[in-house]
Amino acid sequence: MQGYSDGKPYALSWSKQKPSGSTFRYKRLAEGTAGFVGSHLAERLLDAGHEVIGVDCLVPYYSTDLKRRNVAPLLERDGYTFIEGDLVDIELGPLVQGIDLVFHQAAQAGVRASWGAGFSPYIRHNVIATQRLLEAFTHRPPRAFIYASSSSVYGNSPLPMCEDTRPQPLSPYGMSKLAGEHLCTLYHQNFGIPTVVLRYFTVYGHGSAPTWPSTALFLPCCATS
Ligand SMILES: NC(=O)c1ccc[n+]([C@@H]2O[C@H](COP(=O)([O-])OP(=O)(O)OC[C@H]3O[C@@H](n4cnc5c(N)ncnc54)[C@H](O)[C@@H]3O)[C@@H](O)[C@H]2O)c1
Repeated sequence: MQGYSDGKPYALSWSKQKPSGSTFRYKRLAEGTAGFVGSHLAERLLDAGHEVIGVDCLVPYYSTDLKRRNVAPLLERDGYTFIEGDLVDIELGPLVQGIDLVFHQAAQAGVRASWGAGFSPYIRHNVIATQRLLEAFTHRPPRAFIYASSSSVYGNSPLPMCEDTRPQPLSPYGMSKLAGEHLCTLYHQNFGIPTVVLRYFTVYGHGSAPTWPSTALFLPCCATS
């Protein structure tokens, strides 16, 4: 696996060693774990034998009941710890101790809602939370800090979009996700945190946010196929 700095790839080192004294393979921090992608990710990490610390503040952008339902089966699993808390407020020092990989999924989603008076939560959850989390790892970098970015950073860039296409977001949401990418680059360059940016295009499946157009479009097809 590779990370990118200034468009140039660099290798990430992956140890296969099991930490001694641990019954789990690795300790992973997955935030946004009550959300759609984060809850599936936590499930897969637990299936693979890893210990998972999940953090989510249950932003009421869509049903918090749905988010609690996403977390409920995870709470039954060995190796899973759920912390209901906001990355902007909680004490991160104890949380980041011994973390091997970070999956930063937590974000305020939604393109349309990011305009006008709705903008400030995007700064809080997508920019400040990302900066705080990166800062917490400056003295104890994980093997990789994996940031969930978005195709929204591309805006209407010509197809095909690729990693070296110049990002030109067309929404405040896209701008906030791109700001998170820049923070990853800054913390890599200044503190050596091995950051990886993944630009998700539309993700869909069970548990996806009812606010995503893809949920209305694809899930009925999945149910009938
Ligand atoms: N689903 C998609 O199609 C898609 C596409 C592009 C990018 N992404 C990105 O992928 C990631 C996951 O998306 P998703 O669809 O699962 O979104 P989601 O809204 O279902 O999950 C995000 C979770 O993050 C939590 N969260 C937000 N701010 C937080 C904070 N400050 N502290 C703790 N928890 C916080 C929310 O409560 C929510 O449960 C996001 O970063 C999103 O921007 C998703």
